[in-house]
Amino acid sequence: MAYLTTKRLVFAQVLVCFGCCCGQTGRGRPEVPVEFLKSEWRKRGLMKRIQLTISGCLGPCDVPNVVLIVTGQNTLWLGNLKGSDYQELMDWAVHCNQMSRAMEVPKSLRVHEIAAPFIPQTRDWDFNGQRGR
Ligand code: FES
Repeated sequence: MAYLTTKRLVFAQVLVCFGCCCGQTGRGRPEVPVEFLKSEWRKRGLMKRIQLTISGCLGPCDVPNVVLIVTGQNTLWLGNLKGSDYQELMDWAVHCNQMSRAMEVPKSLRVHEIAAPFIPQTRDWDFNGQRGR
């Protein structure tokens, strides 16, 4: 099977939720420093290899301030980020960029790991319609 390909390859994609709940300070949620992240990402030249996406709702609104990190090997859901956690996220992205690969996410961020928000299933289907597991 042939796949479409892109020339735009990255080490990781970071989706920072800024949807109906995350970052909505008027609703009592912690701030999401969207402009800080966007300007630092630009200033530090991260965008070429660490894709930053400020997203709408990612789903698990009951855990405010969600971030999803996707690499070729892993998916990591984080929640309840605030303040300096976003600086840590940026520092990690800088580190990945310097090392030219997706680096391990530091413990200081991993304490915010949340379970992937999928309903457990006994059988899965892959995207080609084949029965898995
Ligand atoms: S608004 Fe962030 S998970 Fe829904």
